[in-house]
Amino acid sequence: MRPSVRSLAVLFALFGCRSDPKDRTPIEERLVAELGDALAREIKPNGHIREYELVAAPAEVNVAGESKLRAWAYNGSVPGPTLRVRLGETLRVKVTNQLPQETTVHWHGVRVPNAMDGVPYLTQAPIKPGETFVYEYTPKDAGTYWYHPHLRSSEQVERGLYGVLIVEDEAPPPYDHDVIWVLDDWRLGQDRQIDPRFNTRGDLMHDGRWGNVVTVNGRTDEVLKVRAGERVRLRLLNTANGRVFVPSFGELSPKIIAVDGKYLARPIELERFELAPGNRLDLDLEMNVSSSARFEVRDLFSERRPNRLAAIEIDGLVEKANTFASPARARVPAWQDFDSAKIDKEINLDAAAGGPLGIAWRFNGVAHTAHDHHAHPPLMVMEEGAFHRLRFVNKSFRLHPIHLHGMFFRLLVRNGRSVDEPFFRDTVLIHAEETIDIGVVPFDAGRWMMHCHVLEHAEAGMMSTFEVRSSRAP
Ligand code: C2O
Ligand code: CU
Repeated sequence: MRPSVRSLAVLFALFGCRSDPKDRTPIEERLVAELGDALAREIKPNGHIREYELVAAPAEVNVAGESKLRAWAYNGSVPGPTLRVRLGETLRVKVTNQLPQETTVHWHGVRVPNAMDGVPYLTQAPIKPGETFVYEYTPKDAGTYWYHPHLRSSEQVERGLYGVLIVEDEAPPPYDHDVIWVLDDWRLGQDRQIDPRFNTRGDLMHDGRWGNVVTVNGRTDEVLKVRAGERVRLRLLNTANGRVFVPSFGELSPKIIAVDGKYLARPIELERFELAPGNRLDLDLEMNVSSSARFEVRDLFSERRPNRLAAIEIDGLVEKANTFASPARARVPAWQDFDSAKIDKEINLDAAAGGPLGIAWRFNGVAHTAHDHHAHPPLMVMEEGAFHRLRFVNKSFRLHPIHLHGMFFRLLVRNGRSVDEPFFRDTVLIHAEETIDIGVVPFDAGRWMMHCHVLEHAEAGMMSTFEVRSSRAP
């Protein structure tokens, strides 16, 4: 029986775009008001188009201390080329797949139109070997982002497919050096080549694939050379499948100016910051030291077994120290007053035997494969422009860096204690048996991924979707 036009109209009035799926409380209205214009809702493209080409293909690279490492690379290099675009400009990237398998490119942390998000079987069809796909969008936020495949990523990212995307401010702050350090690790076998056993049982049961060689920009001997008095913007990015880094600069005391691309409300000292897979950290380094010095930068995630990351060498000095106000003066809502905002969704993280890999990592008992996102309803429906409080409960003993596509959030609570992070994130690390609350006001409609950035966990099911519904009248 076909429904009458009239009953359709009634249905539309009840469930259509104009209806309000979320009863907004006065508190929640206040939290939204506090956000103000901290996140741009729209951006007006200025008409300039930056064009790039990326070719994903097998390549022999000089990486991880090996002169002929057989990797997969964008344009023959690991990391791939750094793409730069200025706020207001439109990025157009032609991606050609010369890999022996399908791929896509995802723009981690960038708020893009949903169709440009690079998630296979959700926002686009996979790019087949020999095929090309053109991504085009105008970023809404300046900052440090990255791109990587979103198909079989536990293998493709591990083999070397990733690169940095920098969205520059309209007027970039006058640093003497703008430096990128991409942190990664590699698991090399006896033959000093990439161990081709991916998604092993051990990796799946633990915190993903942790390698035996740690690199910065693909190197084991990266050195940054500067002069005393100079000012450096250092962009750190963790592209590892599972490893968490805690970068430590010894006597140098950097300030954090941006997390996950976005500037802070105020600069803060770098203390113990866990740079989980996917996270970025922009540091402001003032080289106010004697004219020559050398600093070792180490990873102290495991204090007993620190990893050497890189060195900073200071040689010579500039006449006049570069002084300007730190760019970390962004509007970030304090959201101190969220307590009576109701929890819109509680999400349990656990594992069970089963699934294509033998172990299934799950959100609320459901594991996705890359192919079946549409077979599952979205884990939650969000309303554009409304405040949502989400609770993640880790029922496992493993680490889960949880990443949301298409939106930034603030961490509100960790293990029952409210936290005051003066910044947004797109990825937050949840430790063994922890519970966290995040607050988010999404502005970009579409069906967005939410997943663990331990790529083996994601591959084994720890993926889901959020549907952001437009509140605008149809
Ligand atoms: Cu860095 Cu869903 O990705
Ligand atoms: Cu995980």
